[in-house]
Amino acid sequence: MAIFLDTGKISDIEKYLKMGIIRGVTTNPTILLKEGITGGMKGIKDRTIKIAELIDPYPLSVEVTTNDREGMFRQAKDIARWAKNIVVKITIHGPKGELDNLEVVHELETKHDIRINVTAMMSAQQCFLAAMAGASYVSLLGGRVNNMGYNVIEDIKCLRSLLDTYKLKAQIILASTREVLNVIEWLRAGAHIVTVVPSFLDGMIIHPYSKETVQMFLDDAARGEIKAEPLAVARKKGKA
Ligand code: E4P
Repeated sequence: MAIFLDTGKISDIEKYLKMGIIRGVTTNPTILLKEGITGGMKGIKDRTIKIAELIDPYPLSVEVTTNDREGMFRQAKDIARWAKNIVVKITIHGPKGELDNLEVVHELETKHDIRINVTAMMSAQQCFLAAMAGASYVSLLGGRVNNMGYNVIEDIKCLRSLLDTYKLKAQIILASTREVLNVIEWLRAGAHIVTVVPSFLDGMIIHPYSKETVQMFLDDAARGEIKAEPLAVARKKGKA
């Protein structure tokens, strides 16, 4: 799977989809708010359906907007009906450490056949338990872990080895990218997927020395054309 785009912006998704370098999209309420999506679930639904159609068959993660147990069930079932490639995001626990969430994840995955991405996780042990609960994706917020002064790399290695050892189906999404380097280093450490801020993809593609090299090719091509012209003219006149 490798690279997902962490955005709700249609033009960015179109741009990188056309290049063939993304395999899914992730959103969250903060990303959608920054995109100017308001109007509650109605606003989220409209944008979600647009993105889901655009990237089909690639997956689109959309987060529930409540931490109430029944509310999470209701929203998840509703969101999952909006398009067939939707994955519902649910946080590992509530804002005060409320523990309803994994039960909701387990039931939605195993009894309702809804794909779940468990999010807001900062450690391998959280992700491991979310994977045990049956989540299809486990999102480790690498940039936020690093912001706290820890290096997330060891957690990625540990988590990947646990998932492989116990043959758990969950795919590891490394989220919360903070620098271009994160993409390759997190994939190399064992993440199945890194979800990337759009601008970082340009940063991965563009290299100053490539620019210089391309300019050299173009300059020499132009010089070659100038020299070739008299030869072509001469050939036409039968002199060469
Ligand atoms: C993605 O799924 C996460 O919600 C997102 O990457 C969080 O990013 P942030 O830490 O920059 O808010």
